Amino acid sequence: MKASSLTSSTRRILAGVAVAGILSLAALLPVQADDSTNAPDATPPAPKKKISGVELYAIHCNRCHPERYPVEFNESQWKTIMLHMKVRANIPAEQAKEIMKYLQEEAGY
Ligand code: HEC
Repeated sequence: MKASSLTSSTRRILAGVAVAGILSLAALLPVQADDSTNAPDATPPAPKKKISGVELYAIHCNRCHPERYPVEFNESQWKTIMLHMKVRANIPAEQAKEIMKYLQEEAGY
């Protein structure tokens, strides 16, 4: 059967089916487009901010007693205090180092 032998109403029906098919596919597309977690241009998560010594001091060192001003002790006193307090506070070595840096920078004489 040649295409030209189709009646005009048959052609209209076929065209309608084709349009309906395209529209129903288009209706599915937004669902996929919403899956933005895999989108290549999705903003990457912000890098984890490193917590500073002064923040770590405020987080850890006033849990059991009010925090002391860094100037209240000198550098070597802070060294001894931190040896003791990092064990008491159960602080990871990396964080204790950051706190120590802060205390030594601000230490008294
Ligand atoms: C688990 C509870 C606890 C945490 C957390 C803690 N401390 Fe203490 N801290 C104590 C206790 C108890 C004392 C007093 C008795 C002692 O020295 O063990 C003390 C005493 C001190 C003193 C007084 C020392 C003196 O001679 O007057 C300083 C300074 C101090 N802590 C600093 C810190 C710092 C800095 C941190 C954070 C790294 C910290 N503490 C975290 C329990 C804690």
